Amino acid sequence: MRNLGKNGPLVSDIGLGCMGMSDLYGPADDKESTATIHAALDAGVTLLDTGDYYGMGHNELLLRDALKGRNRNQVVISVKCGALRDAKGNWLGVDGRPAAIKNFLAYSLRRLGTDWIDIYRLGRVDPAVPIEDTVGAMAEMVKAGYIRHIGLSEAGAATIRRAQAVHPICDVQIEYSLISRGIESTILPICRALGVGITAYGVLSRGLISGHWTKDRSTAPNDFRSHSPRFSNENIGHNLHLVEQLRRVAESKGVTVAQLAIAWVLSRGADVVPLVGARRRERLREALGAMKVTLTDDDVQQIERVVPVNAAAGDRYAAAQMSTLDSESTR
Ligand SMILES: NC(=O)c1ccc[n+]([C@@H]2O[C@H](COP(=O)([O-])OP(=O)(O)OC[C@H]3O[C@@H](n4cnc5c(N)ncnc54)[C@H](OP(=O)(O)O)[C@@H]3O)[C@@H](O)[C@H]2O)c1
Repeated sequence: MRNLGKNGPLVSDIGLGCMGMSDLYGPADDKESTATIHAALDAGVTLLDTGDYYGMGHNELLLRDALKGRNRNQVVISVKCGALRDAKGNWLGVDGRPAAIKNFLAYSLRRLGTDWIDIYRLGRVDPAVPIEDTVGAMAEMVKAGYIRHIGLSEAGAATIRRAQAVHPICDVQIEYSLISRGIESTILPICRALGVGITAYGVLSRGLISGHWTKDRSTAPNDFRSHSPRFSNENIGHNLHLVEQLRRVAESKGVTVAQLAIAWVLSRGADVVPLVGARRRERLREALGAMKVTLTDDDVQQIERVVPVNAAAGDRYAAAQMSTLDSESTR
């Protein structure tokens, strides 16, 4: 178990990210998704991450059904809000106004069929609304008993400080992996100084460094990876070459590439909790196997020799999205 920040909840070493069960990674199967959530709970995973905009409500409804008959007190549900979408699923922006937050929260509570959400956060910082207002509204909801903890997502150092001055922040959810190490310069040190935890997403870089991705794998137009620079025709060869270097290290330790990549994130510190995006039991089993992998200092050095900082070709988001990330603008 790991504590999410000095004021946050105790959660399992690895959390389950449920996004791909409803959105962004091509077709998913509700039955298998539910079985994966159950298998995660049975294996001791307590942190489940969702967003009201993942499948526009679908992900929360899936979680509600999967959690029927389970002990609600043993599950930490983390919900993101704020993203606006149209009927076709196109992204329209973000809304962090206090009234919007209270509205999003009310709908999430209803969809999840729960009286409280353990960690609530805005999916992207709204540049039009001071973070103090957004977090202030959430703090009111904490007082009212609807939220237990407040988190941030893809927030930069200045925003983290400002938010923390309004209400204790338990964690910042942000991309962090062997090939996305940008948080190490400013964001991670600030979080550590303030006692704020990290929930790391994209620890397998959305499947790219899982060891299962291949150059010829096709993706639907609405699959995130169809537009991700790291999966583009010009960059995929270079990035998969890195994975092959990792595979050699993994094989020498008798583990898989995915397990090595997740174990590396686990080795960053007890304040970093990786979310894995498994949506099938087989993938979950592999991912949870990372908890049994011990990396020595030599192992870490070897891993970082074959995949040094900034080794990947292409940014982690397309240019239009990169420019909207608070975490990138204030780094
Ligand atoms: N705050 C934010 O801005 C933000 C952004 C993105 C995600 N998140 C959260 O973080 C969670 C995890 O992110 P992610 O889904 O991008 O992470 P990820 O774990 O890096 O990627 C998941 C992808 O990796 C593939 N994969 C291959 N082997 C796997 C294995 N053993 N275990 C798990 N996945 C494996 C999956 O496979 P298949 O395709 O075969 O299923 C899936 O396509 C999301 O579910 C969401 O809750 C937050």
